[in-house]
Amino acid sequence: MTQFRFVALTPSMGRTPFTCGKPALDTYLKQHVSQDVKRDLAKCFVALAPDDSIAGFYTLSAASVPLDDLPAALVNKLPRDPVPVALMGRLAVHTAHAGHGLGVSLIFDAAARVMASDIGMLALMVDATDDDAKRFYEHLGFVPLTDKPHTLVIALSVLRKALGKP
Ligand SMILES: CC(C)(COP(=O)(O)OP(=O)(O)OC[C@H]1O[C@@H](n2cnc3c(N)ncnc32)[C@H](O)[C@@H]1OP(=O)(O)O)[C@@H](O)C(=O)NCCC(=O)NCCS
Repeated sequence: MTQFRFVALTPSMGRTPFTCGKPALDTYLKQHVSQDVKRDLAKCFVALAPDDSIAGFYTLSAASVPLDDLPAALVNKLPRDPVPVALMGRLAVHTAHAGHGLGVSLIFDAAARVMASDIGMLALMVDATDDDAKRFYEHLGFVPLTDKPHTLVIALSVLRKALGKP
């Protein structure tokens, strides 16, 4: 199985060949993500294949969700409103590497980074670009927000268990 390195995106990494099958996500990586990173609006992490090509990427930002928007299972007497979450705004895997678990590995890498940070957050939130992406997230256990069917969340406690962390 291909071994990937999960690291922060740097300017010297070759982004031109990246294609995930959804042009908007390819364009974001090639033309826009650097500006978001520069302005502290997002962090971008990549999976590097052994030849140092970008096999996948995701972005992370801080966000919050009104308590009323959260699925009932997550609310459970939460004492604050809105609730802090980490937003994985974009996630994409190069078509050459799709279907081998890299999408899940990128989500686990994001979860591990959020858990290791010094900021408290209840959940990982994602914006699904379309119904296909939504099905992918739901397959992994993400649940849609009330009235926002393409924004989904999963509790960090669930991801912590999946990662075997205390
Ligand atoms: C969606 C995407 C990230 C999945 O990456 P991937 O590496 O191919 O996915 P994985 O191999 O990790 O799949 C993990 C599981 O999800 C399932 N899965 C993958 N794509 C799915 C889909 N579209 N719908 C439902 N399930 C899906 C797999 O069958 C696998 O299931 P299993 O663990 O039970 O065997 C990738 O196809 C992609 O980049 N698509 C284009 C961009 C995009 O839609 N990004 C997400 C929204 S921002």
